[in-house]
Amino acid sequence: MPKITVDGKSIECKDRQMILQACLDADIALPHYCYHPGLSIVASCRICLVEVEGIPKLVPSCQTPIREGMVVHSTSTKAIANQKQTMEFLLINHPLDCPVCDQAGECYLQDYSYQYGRSQSRFEEDKHKKPKKNVGEKIVLYNDRCIMCTRCVRFTREISGTSELLVEGRGHKEEIDIFPGKPCNNKLAGNVVDLCPVGALLDKDFLFKQRVWLLKRVPSISPVDAGGENIWLEYNEGVVYRIKPRYNAEINQWWISDDTRYSYKAVHDEHRLHRAKKTQYGTQVDVAYGKAIEEADTGLRTVAKEKGAGSLYAVLSPMMSIEEAWLLGTYIRSVDAQALLVLGPVPTSGANESFQNALTGKQTYTIQGEKVPNRKGIERVIALLGGPTTTWDDFVTSKSPESQSRVAGWVVGGYLSNWIGATIPAPLARGFRVVQDILPSALTEKADILLPAAAWAEKDGTWENHAGKLQVFSGAVPPPEGARREGDVYYTLLGRRGLYHAESVRTEIGEPLSGLRPFDSEKAEEPAFEFAEL
Ligand code: SF4
Ligand code: FES
Repeated sequence: MPKITVDGKSIECKDRQMILQACLDADIALPHYCYHPGLSIVASCRICLVEVEGIPKLVPSCQTPIREGMVVHSTSTKAIANQKQTMEFLLINHPLDCPVCDQAGECYLQDYSYQYGRSQSRFEEDKHKKPKKNVGEKIVLYNDRCIMCTRCVRFTREISGTSELLVEGRGHKEEIDIFPGKPCNNKLAGNVVDLCPVGALLDKDFLFKQRVWLLKRVPSISPVDAGGENIWLEYNEGVVYRIKPRYNAEINQWWISDDTRYSYKAVHDEHRLHRAKKTQYGTQVDVAYGKAIEEADTGLRTVAKEKGAGSLYAVLSPMMSIEEAWLLGTYIRSVDAQALLVLGPVPTSGANESFQNALTGKQTYTIQGEKVPNRKGIERVIALLGGPTTTWDDFVTSKSPESQSRVAGWVVGGYLSNWIGATIPAPLARGFRVVQDILPSALTEKADILLPAAAWAEKDGTWENHAGKLQVFSGAVPPPEGARREGDVYYTLLGRRGLYHAESVRTEIGEPLSGLRPFDSEKAEEPAFEFAEL
């Protein structure tokens, strides 16, 4: 491994690394705006310039490859003078409106101004003002805060491949713009907001909702498809305010789809179920949650006793975690050893959606066509539990002779939108049905026992993505009042003490889940940078 010296400290680097990345890997802070490890290098912002012994002028650390024995100075008089001048230049026309800017608290201009800038502005002329622009359905551009780093432009060319954003004009009139009538609405568009190092590109959805320093975050996984994108759920006082990408080298790198970004809205849907109900003389009436669980258990046991083994079923939703599915499967088989386990419906949008670099044609990102996060995980649980099982299609069309005899069961939904449609499939329209779901549907209205459940952002668990990668997610907020996490309900039914604890269930399931370390994917190394062709 080559070694270089930065500010008197010797560090080990990877071959072909740039000075900046080597420093960041070694926890040496160097200011940078235009550099991003997922994009090509343009070295345009000039804040990262350093002095290298043997080279007469300052060099951009983001674009200068390391050499064995190189001696770098980032805090020399020359380097510091450049940092101050660059900051002064970038702030000349900046409106300095931090108190009303959404980016305040996570803005590189603010941070670097404090660390590397001057304490006062010497600029006395009128600032050049540029108008705000709607550059996409969800994105607004505050043009006079832009520092022209072109990260956003490069993203639309090199990752989404859609090329909506461009640089227009020259000199101080230069600005980011879109082609007329071609807004930045691609399915990865929200990533340009994450990439923008200042408050120029902002998410309309989050605009003026929260100050970022009030937000807390937990690691989670996208619930919208089988891709398993790693995300942060950012929340405050029981409300999820936004979703940000969490780096994972093998799965989503630095990006997420817009479907994932806005998936938290279902968590706070005004129609969320929050009253346990039971059907009495043909009408649903409110009932205490504990009583509803008791009556669900009694109802199923009565049917199993009267009709004998093989009379019950459980529909395990691919929105459930592996742990929850394991507990429900264990419970239903404890009531009826021949209970039928059915994997719930797996909606798809057809083929996967791929994105290519518009310049090289290289594939950059894929959005999975399978629109649930845990089909594979539920199949794994069903295989582990063994016994009678069938597919959703066979179950609802009654092709399977097995399903004819099933007269009572437990159905779990948890989908982020109505999943059952207007007509209840025949096997679910008869007998005694316990339904656990988060949103109302034709099925919840007919349930004999209705148990309001928790959305994914309200509980812990494990999902398995389309490629068989098992990933743990954490809850950020509590379920709405009147709803309960599925795991807590199953703990009660199984007579277990305390509250549901996903990690204990993982240990109980054993291999392959017992070795699963939560969030180990975060430590995955970022890929070595390759120059993209421009
Ligand atoms: S809008 Fe943001 S990301 Fe785009 S060039 Fe300006 S500062 Fe950079
Ligand atoms: S980060 Fe090096 S020039 Fe912008």
